[in-house]
Amino acid sequence: MFRTDGYERIPELHEIDTLFDLREKVAVITGGAGKMAEQFAYTLAGAGASVALADLNGRRCDMLAEEISCRTGSNAKGFRCDVTDQRDIRSLFKAVAEGMGPPDILVFNVMAKPRGYYKPPERYTLKAWKEVLDGNLTGAFLCSREAAKYMKENGGGAIVLTSSVYGIVGPDQRIYRECCASNNIYGGGEPLNCPAPYSASKAGLNGLARHLATLWGIYNIRINVLVPGGVYDGQEEAFHRSYVNRTPIGRMAVWSDFNGAILFLVSDASRYMTGATLVVDGGWTAW
Ligand SMILES: NC(=O)c1ccc[n+]([C@@H]2O[C@H](COP(=O)([O-])OP(=O)(O)OC[C@H]3O[C@@H](n4cnc5c(N)ncnc54)[C@H](O)[C@@H]3O)[C@@H](O)[C@H]2O)c1
Repeated sequence: MFRTDGYERIPELHEIDTLFDLREKVAVITGGAGKMAEQFAYTLAGAGASVALADLNGRRCDMLAEEISCRTGSNAKGFRCDVTDQRDIRSLFKAVAEGMGPPDILVFNVMAKPRGYYKPPERYTLKAWKEVLDGNLTGAFLCSREAAKYMKENGGGAIVLTSSVYGIVGPDQRIYRECCASNNIYGGGEPLNCPAPYSASKAGLNGLARHLATLWGIYNIRINVLVPGGVYDGQEEAFHRSYVNRTPIGRMAVWSDFNGAILFLVSDASRYMTGATLVVDGGWTAW
């Protein structure tokens, strides 16, 4: 028997301030020392959230947190956490819950880059493959699992997993053809490319989010995927030119291009959205 009562108790969302208000919310951002995470942390703090930044690089998180607190007036703290280590994750969430309040928001933003990261598939080592999968995908599962414990007790929450266009489409290898090892700004002794475990792990995030969304919706825990396109980071000219040529909007992203999307995904503005993929890629996947 369908029930049709109860809808009147859902508060309307007409005011812009209410749509995006994160006051009283506690957000955990993993991969928190990263470049995109810094943008996300400022955005969430700017909307009023307390922000916990967690990364292998705990010191960078501490510094960032201090800056964010000073500039936004929001509570921000840094933590060292390896997302492949269950004990670290448990301690992180416990420390956040005790020091800042139970987490309402998790943004999983890790990108693992082990030694041998840029090798072609034929020469990829099992060790490096596993490290990428562990950091990018298993870590997302472990962090979501831990976050969900607190969110269930607290009436719900929002989880965002940061994927990539390469989780949706294969790399257009033509844009890497002129890249050479000595010009790879990320080092690694190999030309710039999209490694196979990156694609596999990012595609895995899309499946993981859909799966968990179907289970956790009843607890009001939403889990969505953000799909950013490539960001201009000073990459070599040949690569940059090819990337831009292939992008309908005619440029690479800048770091702040995803701030609106993250605020949408973690706030009530997207409260009826779960198991979905939000693509912000300048049209890269529209061809
Ligand atoms: N930069 C881009 O062009 C781009 C494009 C599409 C998607 N993305 C995705 O956006 C996210 C952020 O990208 P970014 O460019 O800011 O990356 P980044 O390299 O600046 O940050 C990634 C962070 O993850 C941390 N990390 C790695 N392994 C970890 C572990 N085991 N435990 C905890 N932290 C760990 C690193 O220390 C680093 O601070 C990533 O998921 C990436 O795949 C980036």
